[in-house]
Amino acid sequence: MGHRLEGKTALITGGAGGIGQAIASLFADEGARVLLVDRDADALAAGVARLGRDRIATATCDIADEARVARLGDAIRAHGDALDILVNNAATREYHRLADADAASWQRILAVNVIGAGLVTALALPWLRRSGRGAVVNVASTFGICGRAGMGQYDVTKAAMVAATRVLAIEEARYGVRANAVCPGSVLTGFTLGRAAARGLSEAELKDRGFVPAPIARWGEPAEIAAPVLWLASDEASFITGAVLPVDGGVSASGTRVA
Ligand SMILES: NC(=O)c1ccc[n+]([C@@H]2O[C@H](COP(=O)([O-])OP(=O)(O)OC[C@H]3O[C@@H](n4cnc5c(N)ncnc54)[C@H](O)[C@@H]3O)[C@@H](O)[C@H]2O)c1
Repeated sequence: MGHRLEGKTALITGGAGGIGQAIASLFADEGARVLLVDRDADALAAGVARLGRDRIATATCDIADEARVARLGDAIRAHGDALDILVNNAATREYHRLADADAASWQRILAVNVIGAGLVTALALPWLRRSGRGAVVNVASTFGICGRAGMGQYDVTKAAMVAATRVLAIEEARYGVRANAVCPGSVLTGFTLGRAAARGLSEAELKDRGFVPAPIARWGEPAEIAAPVLWLASDEASFITGAVLPVDGGVSASGTRVA
């Protein structure tokens, strides 16, 4: 337990997922009040029960729904009417090669990963500016800065998030708001385990398979993503804005690819 976010309020999207939960837990440990946002109300309730922190509130919201995002303002006002940190962590996936990507799948993924994150950011900015030390941390992906085959639409949206981070850093510097991105590699979460299970792989088999392309030859843990998110969100990173930080066990340095 520390005090690196004492007195701060954070909004985290995708708060019911593996990485969102790890960020929420660490932020609460460091003294932040946390507003966890997710479209999955049941998973959100289960997540908060698991975290068991009294400084964590929740709001159910599909960030692809503009009207629902606008109503998030009410949740922020009810949760102390302050916001110092926004973590754009919610994301959805599509599994097509670009040759097979149709308009509907493009629209589904862009609506959440690009437009949704953009709408939440725009909603949060008046509070972040008022904070005087506002910080946005975007959870992009190592595949927003490297290419691979098979999840191209997702990778395109993560590259867009990297670009949005840089633009936001430049536009908002005058208001004291910093914007940075972390780019996780392969991290063990409900999502990755679910994908493996669908292919008939257990967690142990997934860990043993050795296809993880990272020079640090293992899967990352959600807490290993949460730690750099905390640092970038905290005042320790007060001169860092527009940075794009790979947190991927060296994947983006190695040039090794997943086919
Ligand atoms: N797990 C990995 O290996 C990995 C690697 C690189 C990047 N990431 C990124 O990290 C972030 C978290 O990933 P995770 O593995 O914890 O995923 P996850 O699927 O476990 O969690 C994502 C959460 O986002 C929520 N969500 C999805 N669409 C939403 C919407 N429209 N509105 C509100 N909430 C929505 C889901 O309900 C879920 O709880 C994502 O941005 C993901 O792209 C993950």
